Amino acid sequence: MGTFDIDVIEKEPAEVETPLLVLAHFEDDPEPVGSAAELDARLGGEIGRILRRGDFRGGKDEALAIFPRPGEARAERVLLVGLGKRDAYQPERLRRAVGAAVRQAERLGARALALPLDFAARVGGRAGMPTAAQAAAEAAVLAAWEFREFKTIQEEAAPRARVEALVLVTREDAAACRSAAERGRTIAAGENLARDLASRPGNVATPSHLAEVAGELAETYGLGLTVLDRDAMRREGMGALLAVASGSEEEPRFIVLEYRGAETGVGPLALVGKGVTFDSGGISIKPASGMEEMKYDMSGAAAVLGAMRAIAALALPAHVVALIPSTENLLSGRALKPGDIIRSHLGKTIEVVNTDAEGRLILADALSYARRYTPSAIVDAATLTGACVIALGHHAIGLMGTDPALVDEIRAAGEQTGERCWPLPLWDDYRPQIDSNFADIKNTGGRPAGTITAGLFLREFVGQTPWAHLDVAGTAYRDDAAPYHRKGATGIPTRLFVEWVRARTER
Ligand code: BES
Ligand code: MN
Ligand code: ZN
Repeated sequence: MGTFDIDVIEKEPAEVETPLLVLAHFEDDPEPVGSAAELDARLGGEIGRILRRGDFRGGKDEALAIFPRPGEARAERVLLVGLGKRDAYQPERLRRAVGAAVRQAERLGARALALPLDFAARVGGRAGMPTAAQAAAEAAVLAAWEFREFKTIQEEAAPRARVEALVLVTREDAAACRSAAERGRTIAAGENLARDLASRPGNVATPSHLAEVAGELAETYGLGLTVLDRDAMRREGMGALLAVASGSEEEPRFIVLEYRGAETGVGPLALVGKGVTFDSGGISIKPASGMEEMKYDMSGAAAVLGAMRAIAALALPAHVVALIPSTENLLSGRALKPGDIIRSHLGKTIEVVNTDAEGRLILADALSYARRYTPSAIVDAATLTGACVIALGHHAIGLMGTDPALVDEIRAAGEQTGERCWPLPLWDDYRPQIDSNFADIKNTGGRPAGTITAGLFLREFVGQTPWAHLDVAGTAYRDDAAPYHRKGATGIPTRLFVEWVRARTER
């Protein structure tokens, strides 16, 4: 995607010249309010009649287009979008409404949208306006994203227009809204980078490709960069990452990016992302049906890179280290086998019961390597378990951790960004499931509570550092796109990461 224009203007809504004027409406308002009331007067009472007839009520995800006659307004089209009930409002409602508006604009052939922000003054007072500006900008940039790198022919079902601009209309707080909208745009661009990377197939988004992208970020933003190849991993003793990589001809990479936006006087925040660029399952091979989806198995790594770009572009006053273990999980005469016992970077030995439980192996070495930065907290994201999809489906990230305060921070960041998490217990009661007869620990705990036993496996490698783990297997890519997503990669949890780091800078 090219650049997306975002502008904030101070104008009467009816005077805004735009292909599509978007009016947000709360479900419990029986009459048009604010900007909508001004438009209604210009449109001869049409919006009021629509509301009274019940053709549009303002429910969540509802949208209805109306067409002014010449002279009635400067907008070519007006789109009513629903925010649901006013007392249930959260920024996520607005993101969804803006996402729906972008989809309508594509169908109607409108390249730009304008959105009056006055509705936000009725939910959060004056503070509500910049928050809404940020959410609207985020959603527009996210909704406009599309992965077309490998499309060479024009499809018949292609949208009539690609939306490339958003104008926010306000009569107060324009400066604050402008910087909030710019922030939203930067954060969404980071998430769109994650979506691009996750969408690229395994033959393109290889471990070296991820390292190249990290290199470009390092170059652009002046980040510290360390990239380990197979030999360097051997010298480091990363036996678990190397074991997974042993079945593949593709070079593995261990990537470390460091952003120093502040001297905080405490250890950095560490973000860790699973970077399996294709997961066949290895010798414990997966069924063929749906195996192509396993190109998304580096979504955690993609989100870490997307977040690092946004954090650096926003110049957040934070110190953040990103760690990405990256490899394919394939089969060959040299591949890791069930029953093999390997020595991890930490020194703990692992009995590999199932080569398809590879994510936790490569993360184990990354979590242990992270100790040399003495991080004040570690958060990892991984498409780790099919069991998480069964437990929580596609609407919640599985959240686990060793530190209740950190887990609360992550949950709050998830609520704020709409990348919601739900906690699962890391009780010691589950721990015997990963006891091994022959080694210190084994890499699977059987079918019961598969997400939790994967979390407990990771916990063995974090030591005393406060740590949280996000299982994004159900949320990193989806078939049923939400309004500001498309089918495929969601970019989750890029925005959650950025929000968590931002909130930390305010402590
Ligand atoms: N990458 C998969 C997990 C996954 C499954 C992500 C479905 C997204 C959708 C992971 O490496 C894996 O294969 N996990 C196994 C673990 C099992 C062997 C203990 C699983 O969940 O089946
Ligand atoms: Mn696997
Ligand atoms: Zn995997």
